[in-house]
Amino acid sequence: MPLGSYICCMNTPSICIVCSNISKIEQANTLAAQLGVPLFKEKRNDFDLQLRFDNDYVELFDTALNTGIHVNFVEGALAHRQQFGGGRGQAIARAVGLKQGNTPSVLDITAGLARDAYILACMGCKVTLVEQSPVLYSLIDDGIRRGLTDQASVDVLKNFMDLVNADSILYMEHMDKESRPDVIYIDPMYPERKKSALVKKDMQILQHLLAKDENAELLLKTALEYATKRVVVKRPVHAETVGGIKPSTSISSKKTRYDVYIVNSE
Ligand SMILES: C[S@@+](CC[C@H](N)C(=O)[O-])C[C@H]1O[C@@H](n2cnc3c(N)ncnc32)[C@H](O)[C@@H]1O
Repeated sequence: MPLGSYICCMNTPSICIVCSNISKIEQANTLAAQLGVPLFKEKRNDFDLQLRFDNDYVELFDTALNTGIHVNFVEGALAHRQQFGGGRGQAIARAVGLKQGNTPSVLDITAGLARDAYILACMGCKVTLVEQSPVLYSLIDDGIRRGLTDQASVDVLKNFMDLVNADSILYMEHMDKESRPDVIYIDPMYPERKKSALVKKDMQILQHLLAKDENAELLLKTALEYATKRVVVKRPVHAETVGGIKPSTSISSKKTRYDVYIVNSE
């Protein structure tokens, strides 16, 4: 999917690409052209966000927060979750209907940093990830590229995950009937909280990057038309349901609630 058509997302905040690593300059240059943003050799603290190619990974660095995010399937929280994550008993697995003899295909229409998608893919679901932001798409793409060289993640990334840069509403509307997924998974941006200390740094960076997410209700209503078995919406545990639309059931863990909308009895 071409990245160029999403340049409109880049108006605010200001963003640039920084690359001092000669081996990455071609990749950085291509992305700068695709996004229509400037490319610099040195760090630029006069930009709100900097997409940095200085390390082994591509990092989205938030100048005000003085920290960055990148996607890592090989080390850290995701790798730990892959190894010790609780398998099919965990709430997200039950929410998508994973059980013995049932491994649904999943369309994740709010891919973000691909964490939920990776967890589901590790449990055997074929997951298609759709992300509208070309910046986040490039972070996931970079994470996949590195993960493909690692023994622990290569199988999952190669055989169970498929990444698309698109608006999910358009994507769903253009799906062939045969390629409709069993489950559509939605994790809308959490509403901005007043006390930003309560919001994790990575989510704060996403909130700085992305405009306020107004389309959760439309995503849900469209997903309900295209999922063949169920739609799952991830919410903070005490949040209202999206659009006031009542789920068939809800599955909660400590901080998170999964609202499950059954569209076809299984
Ligand atoms: C809270 S994040 C998802 C985090 C993700 N579940 C994870 O595990 O990393 C929400 C994401 O949905 C994306 N999004 C929102 N509306 C979208 C749309 N219409 N099409 C594609 N992506 C969308 C946003 O760009 C953002 O990256």
